Amino acid sequence: MRIAVDLGYGYIKGIAENGERIIFPSVVGSGRDLSHVGLFGANALPEYHVWLKGAEGEARGNFLVGVLAQREARDLSRPFDDDKIDHPSTRALVATAAYLLTRRLEPGSSIHLATGLPFRHYRSQKERFRDNLADLALQVQMNGHGDARTVAFERVTVFPQAAGAFYSCLLDGEGRVRDLGLLQKGGLIGIVDVGYKTTDYVVVDLDDGLALRENMSGTVEAGVSTVWRMVQSDLEGLTGVPINQSELERAFRSGALHFRGRDYPVGEMANQAKKLVARAIMDAVQMSWGDRAHYLRTVYLAGGGALEMQEYLWAMHHRVEMVPDPQYANAAGFLAVAAKVS
Ligand SMILES: Nc1ncnc2c1ncn2[C@@H]1O[C@H](COP(=O)(O)OP(=O)(O)OP(=O)(O)O)[C@@H](O)[C@H]1O
Ligand SMILES: [Mg+2]
Repeated sequence: MRIAVDLGYGYIKGIAENGERIIFPSVVGSGRDLSHVGLFGANALPEYHVWLKGAEGEARGNFLVGVLAQREARDLSRPFDDDKIDHPSTRALVATAAYLLTRRLEPGSSIHLATGLPFRHYRSQKERFRDNLADLALQVQMNGHGDARTVAFERVTVFPQAAGAFYSCLLDGEGRVRDLGLLQKGGLIGIVDVGYKTTDYVVVDLDDGLALRENMSGTVEAGVSTVWRMVQSDLEGLTGVPINQSELERAFRSGALHFRGRDYPVGEMANQAKKLVARAIMDAVQMSWGDRAHYLRTVYLAGGGALEMQEYLWAMHHRVEMVPDPQYANAAGFLAVAAKVS
């Protein structure tokens, strides 16, 4: 079976051929005894507490992953922040994703993993990343998820991350061309994938075997987390106190921050910040494309951040479209091309 995992800086997204889907924050912490955490009740711990063992049964660590790590870890890490592709935390995230995506399979089923790397690391790291993943063989166990199961990949394919979103427009889940018109018209297509920490943009040449135009592709250091940080520092300026992440999240959800009898309009502040961040993203992409932007047929928006900021991103180009299911688009695309190469 094929599974596709999009390892974002913010969230891990996964889709399996059998329709299984997962999403969880890309955060990992060291595992510890949580039996005293009565707050959630024994069965209601957020996901995931993960134990890893090597093929011979030797312990390879125990980790808090995703929401559980956000709430309970004392040593939170976002391993992709420093691009530690061979870090134990990266293994924990990949193992967690693959374990969950294959939960309804017969043990021992052969798995083809399709995944991606950010554009700026793709060329230099893809072989090493693929080999690391192909060598991975772990027994994985999780709280509340039954017995340990082996996670290993028969085959691994690594794509440039944002290109996944393009494939999801072009191909259906079986790797068949969904939009023949798109191919026939030809020309250059841009894809802008607005994520949590970064925005990846790539240009694909439809007249040249879907070749990636490397000189029109790149990464901008801005995304949804940039919006959050701006609002956070605005709020700190207004209130005069440090605002921590969980207060900020609560404020985002409710649209206002209540502090010392005053309500601060977080919703409006976030919209202002989104406008600025979207402008910065568009400027950086347009700077890279220059006059060649006029030759692009369509610019597709993808990523969870494209949903958050869409109203401010339409000015990117004279023809902008949102890909279907933007946050899962890379994963869906990896799955589709994996069908073609297998
Ligand atoms: N259901 C959802 N769950 C999580 N995030 C969501 C959801 N819907 C929209 N979002 C937004 O999507 C953003 C994350 O987007 P995405 O998953 O594309 O980022 P990423 O791929 O992890 O980051 P990067 O591309 O920088 O590596 C979140 O910060 C949030 O604002
Ligand atoms: Mg992403």
